[in-house]
Amino acid sequence: MSQILVVDDDAAIRTVIAQSLRRAGHGVTLAASLAEADAALSRAVPDVLVTDVMLPDGDGLDNLRHLRASHPALPVIILSAQNTLSTAVRATEAGAYDYLPKPFDLDALTSAVDSALARADPSPAERLGQDEGALPLLGRSPAMQAVYRVIARVVSNDLTVLVSGESGTGKELVARAIHDLGPRRAAPFVAINMAAIPRDLIEAELFGHERGAFTGAAARTAGRFEQAAGGTLFLDEIGDMPLDAQTRLLRVLQSGEFTSVGGARPIRADVRIVAATNRDLTSRISSGQFREDLFYRLNVVPIELPPLRDRGSDISLLARHFLDGAAAQGLSHRRLDDGALALLEAHSWPGNVRELENLMRRLAVLARDEVIDAGAIRTMLDVAFEAPGEDAGIGPAIRALINRIAGERPGALDDGTLYARVIDEVERPLIEAMLARHGRNQLRAARALGINRNTLRKRLDSLGIGTTRVLDGNADAG
Ligand SMILES: Nc1ncnc2c1ncn2[C@@H]1O[C@H](COP(=O)(O)OP(=O)(O)OP(=O)(O)O)[C@@H](O)[C@H]1O
Ligand SMILES: [Mg+2]
Repeated sequence: MSQILVVDDDAAIRTVIAQSLRRAGHGVTLAASLAEADAALSRAVPDVLVTDVMLPDGDGLDNLRHLRASHPALPVIILSAQNTLSTAVRATEAGAYDYLPKPFDLDALTSAVDSALARADPSPAERLGQDEGALPLLGRSPAMQAVYRVIARVVSNDLTVLVSGESGTGKELVARAIHDLGPRRAAPFVAINMAAIPRDLIEAELFGHERGAFTGAAARTAGRFEQAAGGTLFLDEIGDMPLDAQTRLLRVLQSGEFTSVGGARPIRADVRIVAATNRDLTSRISSGQFREDLFYRLNVVPIELPPLRDRGSDISLLARHFLDGAAAQGLSHRRLDDGALALLEAHSWPGNVRELENLMRRLAVLARDEVIDAGAIRTMLDVAFEAPGEDAGIGPAIRALINRIAGERPGALDDGTLYARVIDEVERPLIEAMLARHGRNQLRAARALGINRNTLRKRLDSLGIGTTRVLDGNADAG
């Protein structure tokens, strides 16, 4: 049953309209003012809005402009007693679907409502049920279906969503899907990554700053809240937000208003918030790094994305999708044989869907044959994830480290950065382990590491590792 919101300050008109729309089989919600209409809209977005122009707390046509930004797909039918041409023109300019001068014929109203419904966009549930190829999110595993059900519940309202899940599980994709399927989709989707912005710039980035607010603030700059007006603001890696910025964000979420850095004028925060984290926020709360009250504000609707290893049945679908995507970009078309698929399904995917996507892209570029078998996959996985040093007793640790680093941002990590990060994180514990094993004898430790002692000394210096030397009776040991 379609839902119609009727806004008119005249109780008699409301009653008559409600009766005739209900008789025509529609659900009807009534509002007597703009404020009541806003409240009704924030509870549930109707399929059609029917509104009078002169309302006790404002002008229905002025309000329509604002509605067009926040609910671009909502058809609006304007009723007006000032049936002048200028009202009709204003109604059309403001983006009204139809305009009915008062007094109007009830049949004309029901047929205007019916035609608005007929051209209205498919409902969010219908859009989610569309052809799979058109959807951004793939996967039919029970775990993903549970995710789709929650998304379908939130797309048409403004409830705050907190998406959690390991790196590469699709958190940003979910945030975009919520935006793209909802009534704010014509307005901007703006993302800000708390981990990527210097801590003392976060507030200015979020709320903007006035000219001269701090050194280097040469001009007034709009923050992400303002850039996203009417749309969705994606607060990525929210767990990395500094505490003072958390306090400020909480106040904004509570009051619905913000002021820019150095500014005094409050600005209405007209954004839908989706936040994401790959950290365990509850442990950050207990260690005092995350505000509990902010957590509850954000976690109105939690969406937890499953790691890829728990969605085994999605792996072949996703792998094929990424190989097809590579082919569509002009790379050779590749297929996976059963052995290859079995290997993929057994892999632990520390980098989740992103890791699978990168692996498929590498295979599309580098595999020798059209049909990819388990051997080809193993070689690729080895190149990326196999680590040396098993005999040093730290093989699994290094392997886990490389997996973690490679899984974090494989798309953004070029080989040089990966190498530097691994060396950085591996060298110190490796040298420490060898020194400890050889009683801090540098010569033996160097031999065990397969490097000469001068090289080891240089590394010790640059890593700042303490160099209490132990003589081993060998002349070389000084
Ligand atoms: N269900 C899915 N269907 C298709 N592609 C997906 C799916 N989930 C993730 N991807 C793809 O995997 C990659 C990683 O997704 P995304 O950036 O959304 O992950 P994330 O959870 O935000 O990761 P991070 O924590 O590292 O920021 C993207 O290229 C995305 O398109
Ligand atoms: Mg992300």
